Amino acid sequence: MEIDAANGKLGVMLVGLGAVATTFIAGVENVRRGRALPIGSLSQMATIRLGKRTEKRMPKIKEFVPLADLNDLVFAAWDPIPDDAYTAALKAGVLDQHEHLEPIKPFLQSIKPMPAVFDQYYVKRLHGTNVKRGKNKRELAEQLREDMRNFKQSAKLDRLVVVWCASTEVFLTPGPAHQSLAAFETAMEQNDQSIAPSMIYAYAALMENIPFANGAPNLTVDLPVMERLAEERHVPIGGKDFKTGQTMMKSVLAPAFKARMLGLSGWYSTNILGNRDGEVLDDPESFKTKEESKLGLLEHILQPELYPELYGKVYHKVRINYYPPRGDNKEGWDNIDIFGWLGYPMQIKVDFLCRDSILAAPIVLDLALFFDLAARAGLSGIQEWLSFYFKSPQFAQGLYAEHDLFIQQTKLKNTLRWMMGEEQITHLGIEYYEYAEK
Ligand SMILES: NC(=O)c1ccc[n+]([C@@H]2O[C@H](COP(=O)([O-])OP(=O)(O)OC[C@H]3O[C@@H](n4cnc5c(N)ncnc54)[C@H](O)[C@@H]3O)[C@@H](O)[C@H]2O)c1
Repeated sequence: MEIDAANGKLGVMLVGLGAVATTFIAGVENVRRGRALPIGSLSQMATIRLGKRTEKRMPKIKEFVPLADLNDLVFAAWDPIPDDAYTAALKAGVLDQHEHLEPIKPFLQSIKPMPAVFDQYYVKRLHGTNVKRGKNKRELAEQLREDMRNFKQSAKLDRLVVVWCASTEVFLTPGPAHQSLAAFETAMEQNDQSIAPSMIYAYAALMENIPFANGAPNLTVDLPVMERLAEERHVPIGGKDFKTGQTMMKSVLAPAFKARMLGLSGWYSTNILGNRDGEVLDDPESFKTKEESKLGLLEHILQPELYPELYGKVYHKVRINYYPPRGDNKEGWDNIDIFGWLGYPMQIKVDFLCRDSILAAPIVLDLALFFDLAARAGLSGIQEWLSFYFKSPQFAQGLYAEHDLFIQQTKLKNTLRWMMGEEQITHLGIEYYEYAEK
């Protein structure tokens, strides 16, 4: 496979300059200055095994595939709140002011959000002032396209990627306006309510041939019109919803139960969270979008249709409670009721005291770098190999999503091997023993 070299600069355009986006930007800058390590980022820290175990070839992923260098990343963002990245990071309260913000203050202050395409109908708890005006949604899309072109030109960039790090929008389902490009463009001209701001950004990016990754559970690029547009224009897309804390743990534990054929009768998950994301999710309509995204995976992993005795009657509940004193330091509790031999019940409790944006920032970095790689490798449409990063991974028609974290990791690494013409690793391993016998 021919992969274009990562020459020149890569512009990373973030929709939303809140907790996740500023933790990501400030983190990259601290790493670039040698002040911290990119912990949690596969693209920066992980190695990949090549060939047989006896060959001992284990390069770092970033040395194996041609990824953009961190020094070549340039950032821009849109947000309806006009705070620059320094002020936004201070308000988010994730990173230590003296350790990680003050030393890079001028850099962060230089990142000022462009006016957003925003409408409070879709995010009820926010009041935005830094907002684009236009006759209709199509005109707003044209303004976004202009932002993308201007950024590329003024910062002398070679390529762009867009990552949605903005608030979760209200729950929407795909409708007639999302089926074809003609219907979508007409709906934008008519200011149809089924066209959410996130879809306008996605459309603008695809029309500019820019890869788009969606970190929230909104539909955004998970629509027939976007899938087709991405295929036609040879642009990679993916989503949805960064897989970070509680759901990441779920996608590790549930496959373990299934692997050992242990039954599950209930899984109760609750969270307390006090950042702006928590406040937005306190609105029932935004919560519904998140709930759908968090609920889906157990059914896919456990396959109750194949194992009705073990997983036919699972009671699964997910709650998010807005609790301001905790800020970004979420606490997620899971009570898991399992059963074993002859049906005897057991319980597992998980109490994850995590930091939401600390878990999400490295995912934003990896997605930006891998989506750029995908574009340079000529891959287009849904990038299933990046399911590893998403709570509700997009998949091609006729398939189902793969949620098991370790299958996703294998898929990701095998895709990198495939791109670089290396053998797939099947973990069969029998060859070592045949050689041993000889
Ligand atoms: N942190 C995690 O672990 C995690 C995991 C999965 C998903 N997410 C999602 O990532 C998103 C960002 O999370 P956060 O903690 O940074 O939230 P945040 O509230 O701190 O930041 C979101 C920002 O998006 C802005 N925004 C809202 N609508 C916009 C629009 N139309 N255009 C441009 N900007 C817009 C808001 O003004 C805000 O500044 C949320 O949707 C969240 O659900 C986060």
